[in-house]
Amino acid sequence: MMKSLLCWPEPVIRVQSLAASGIREIPERYIKSPSHRPSLNNDVSQPQEVDVPVIDFQNLFSSDRGLCDEALRCVHNACREWGFFQIVNHGVSHELMKRTCEVWHEFFNLPLEEKQKYANTPATYEGYGSRVGVEKGASLDWSDYFFLLLMPLSLVNQSKWPAIPASCRELVAEYGSEVVRLGGKLMKVLSMNLGLEEDSLLKSFGGEENVGACLRVSYYPKCPQPDLTLGLSPHSDPGGLTILLPDENVGGLQVCRKGSWLTVKPVPNAFIINIGDQIQVLSNAIYQSVEHRVIVNSNEDRVSLAIFYNPRSDQLIEPCKKLLTKDRPALYKPMTYAEYRLTIRAKGPCGKKQVESLKSPRQSD
Ligand code: OGA
Ligand code: NI
Repeated sequence: MMKSLLCWPEPVIRVQSLAASGIREIPERYIKSPSHRPSLNNDVSQPQEVDVPVIDFQNLFSSDRGLCDEALRCVHNACREWGFFQIVNHGVSHELMKRTCEVWHEFFNLPLEEKQKYANTPATYEGYGSRVGVEKGASLDWSDYFFLLLMPLSLVNQSKWPAIPASCRELVAEYGSEVVRLGGKLMKVLSMNLGLEEDSLLKSFGGEENVGACLRVSYYPKCPQPDLTLGLSPHSDPGGLTILLPDENVGGLQVCRKGSWLTVKPVPNAFIINIGDQIQVLSNAIYQSVEHRVIVNSNEDRVSLAIFYNPRSDQLIEPCKKLLTKDRPALYKPMTYAEYRLTIRAKGPCGKKQVESLKSPRQSD
């Protein structure tokens, strides 16, 4: 049975406070087993940076047929081969991106008691948190976060968003609506690339009014022993699509490609897009979610803003009928997104185990 999701199994420790206390050695709970440490594949002080495909988003809607086809092809290949790509010329104001990042830096720099007003519980995860998962004694990651709902509008409760800094709620609402709009456009691009009707994926998600969207702002404090821990353990994103604004000054996101961990080199003012598990299921694995994780460092704090674009929670997600053939029948059994998410919320990051557990028995034997 699912563990109770009503409260945390043990007192919550704010990683930012731990880092600020001046400790030279991190507590046992944050030390990963040797095979999960970043140092195994990479030198943390000199990570090997890679260029994830960059797409000029405007070209996807160009009236120049050649430009448009070429851009669509680039996205399709990135979705198939990387599960990740970056977009520039995406239409979201750079000024708005910058101000929203700044406001979250300010929030995390507020006194602890102010942030504690928003302390979250595993019931909804909304608010200020320091872990995902409720297993007592679980290994913990070196980060704190703030999680809030942006869509559907009926579930939005701005009183759960920070009241300080004073501009926070307004900026988050504006940033959220711009990025959600971008998410809708990306859904069209992916639908077309899969050979489906333009609005097909969005319909499978429950329609524009009903999709779920949430913001997770992650705060990765500098760490005295970055080679022993992770800011965020390996996982694939459980939802549909993720639109990530990484820290413009501090790297840390690593993508698993052909068995090794590569550090993403962010392009200024770009968003990093990645495929989540629900699109893997809907596309019957033509597109696959890819494992990623975050490493930390001993010099600088890092802040990232991830917007998750998800199906309506009671929507049954299963491979699109149009993509099934005799040779390639449905690989996954249907499940609502709400049910899918429960497991992640109970267990925390677990690589790609969750999506693999959906495989129809025929495929996994
Ligand atoms: C996530 C995530 C990456 C980052 O929140 O799911 O993968 O760079 N974040 O913070
Ligand atoms: Ni992620």
